[in-house]
Amino acid sequence: MKICVIGVGVIGSAIVKSLLRGMSGIKIIATRRNVDELKELEKLGVIITCDNKKAASEADVVMLCVKPMDVKGVLEEVKKQIEGKLVVSVAAAVPLKFLKEITPKTRFVRAMPNIAVLVNEAFIAYCSGPDVTSTDKKIVGEIFSKMGKYIKVHEKYMNSITGLSGSGPAYLLVIIEALINAGLKVGLPKDLAFLSSAQTVIGTGKLLLETKKRLSELKDMVVTPGGTTIEGIYELESGGIRIAIMRTVEAATKKSEKITNDIISAARKT
Ligand SMILES: NC(=O)c1ccc[n+]([C@@H]2O[C@H](COP(=O)([O-])OP(=O)(O)OC[C@H]3O[C@@H](n4cnc5c(N)ncnc54)[C@H](OP(=O)(O)O)[C@@H]3O)[C@@H](O)[C@H]2O)c1
Repeated sequence: MKICVIGVGVIGSAIVKSLLRGMSGIKIIATRRNVDELKELEKLGVIITCDNKKAASEADVVMLCVKPMDVKGVLEEVKKQIEGKLVVSVAAAVPLKFLKEITPKTRFVRAMPNIAVLVNEAFIAYCSGPDVTSTDKKIVGEIFSKMGKYIKVHEKYMNSITGLSGSGPAYLLVIIEALINAGLKVGLPKDLAFLSSAQTVIGTGKLLLETKKRLSELKDMVVTPGGTTIEGIYELESGGIRIAIMRTVEAATKKSEKITNDIISAARKT
């Protein structure tokens, strides 16, 4: 199978690397305008080019990784080359209907991964058009399984997913950074503060997913009456962390919705 990834920047190169690690016997063609930035991928056996048309014409499947505002231009450019093909768009906020209107003879999957693709631990939510075939579904499953955990959702959830798990690594990195700083404040050496903070986040996520216990049940296993944890929880709750996180995701979701509206109205004007 030949996969062409158009717009190989941050998420595109993470996707290319995950596919190289996970899928044997595939050929990957990577494109961007500043092709010098792709030399590292070329050394890994990826064909690099700034010619989107040529790349798309040679591919069986196209992954579209450009910024939302660049999607229309790129699709118009490769319209002929992607006729009858499957295109997976990871562009935030760009609806399936918008994609289909530009290139009606292309089958689309809209996906929202996150940067944890780099370590094959992304969360990927996706939705697809009604014309996507069972073979397409198999291919998409194979691709996403190399990137992390994936789930099909109704398209109405995609902007919220963008605000939660798409941007989520950035929120958690802020929290991890705060934990590291806290570790330093209470006298831990830097390495120890770093490792204990990051591993605690990984372990807690796994605990929740793998034990299938309720969240409150797991929390009760750590919080003991008159113990150390409840002292910490008291301070955490006084800081309004729950509201802050809810506002965070809500703000990012609203921004994603605004981008959807902006893209649609910009397209109407042209
Ligand atoms: N970063 C994330 O964590 C993340 C997660 C989920 C989804 N996404 C989505 O993924 C998309 C890309 O995000 P990103 O963070 O990877 O941005 P990025 O690093 O800016 O990557 C976009 C790439 O597109 C290339 N590009 C622009 N116009 C092009 C054209 N006409 N033909 C070929 N390549 C072109 C740019 O390179 P040149 O300027 O050299 O052409 C750039 O490297 C966005 O739609 C975003 O919503 C990102």
